[in-house]
Amino acid sequence: MRVLTVIGNRPQFVKAAAVSTKLRERADELIVHTGQHYDRELSEVFFEELGIPAADHRLSVGSGSHAEQTAAVVRGLEPLLEELAPDAVLVYGDTNSTLGGALVAAKARVPLAHVEAGMRSHNRSMPEEVNRVVADALSALSLCSTEAAVANLEREGLGETAVLVGDVMADVALLFGPIADQRSAVLDRLELQQRGFIAATAHRAGNVDDPANLRALVEVLARAAERAPVVFAVHPRTRARLEAEGVLGGLADRGIRATEPLGYLDFTRLVRASRAVLTDSGGLQKEAFLASVPCVTMREETEWVETVEAGWNRLVGLDPEAAARALDELPEPGERTSPAAELYGSGRAGERVAEALAQRFG
Ligand code: UD1
Repeated sequence: MRVLTVIGNRPQFVKAAAVSTKLRERADELIVHTGQHYDRELSEVFFEELGIPAADHRLSVGSGSHAEQTAAVVRGLEPLLEELAPDAVLVYGDTNSTLGGALVAAKARVPLAHVEAGMRSHNRSMPEEVNRVVADALSALSLCSTEAAVANLEREGLGETAVLVGDVMADVALLFGPIADQRSAVLDRLELQQRGFIAATAHRAGNVDDPANLRALVEVLARAAERAPVVFAVHPRTRARLEAEGVLGGLADRGIRATEPLGYLDFTRLVRASRAVLTDSGGLQKEAFLASVPCVTMREETEWVETVEAGWNRLVGLDPEAAARALDELPEPGERTSPAAELYGSGRAGERVAEALAQRFG
């Protein structure tokens, strides 16, 4: 069986780390890096730290509008697919690289397998929601992280393609969490005390591209910083917007410490040592949950509903008061009684993805 894996963004590299090793025990895997993310700290550092096999092909699509990025993936991938003639194309998550990979596979009549299938925010103003819905509609094999995802596909009449495998990002978090604690010196480097700070990220287009929303987001961070210093690992998209609005320089005075994006090990160490996480990321909500760290999410809805149901994640949108209340009311880090890992596949999702692919296309 030959599988062509299409990845291109930071979280997809993490997800591929859980699958590639297991898949290569059963299949001939070729990796295409679309180049949607290209900066070292958003790309190569993950390959190095997580031992992901080097990409076999690079499309170098770079940054651009949704149409430009998706079109560049489609154009670059089509001839490769013809040349390599895989038995299946494997895509991850919900980015423009996912969408491009799914479209090319479907048009070439090569079966599509989608990891993290069935996630829904039910908010079509998110580009990611559009990407997921299309990828799921085109998939022959929908590899689901959670029972909620399987139920979403069933409701859309796609239940027959669904297999519950668990969450591949959770595999990596469980495996590399203790390694990060040992290897990363990020706390010393940033002069941070265990549980003495809040770890923050923000990159969601709806939050950072609109100037009014970006200013509201800064207010949320500043309100949180009244509780504990906020360490804000800034995505390049967000940095550019903060600079354009002239607010980047003033963050430090409000207790918000902006850093460059961190590699996987440093960021994982940071999260595991934090008092709370403040984010608009999808994956990070779950990583905080797995690390028994409370999470305050700057969105109105989430795909990772289990984290909220378990009482470890609160959705506050861009409301500073709600964020402050959530920080006061959520559990202390490390007090977990609920079985977080079991909800997400107990660290065996990558293995199950490889198994499902072999059963279906082997
Ligand atoms: C993309 C995904 C998002 C995912 C995120 C993970 C889509 C629609 N969005 O958002 O779902 O959560 O990746 O990080 O696919 N840039 C750099 N260097 C890079 C890459 C990007 O400086 O290596 C800057 C560029 O100015 C670029 C901007 O960041 O225009 C946005 O990058 P892009 O890949 O379009 O979207 P993300 O915000 O990263």
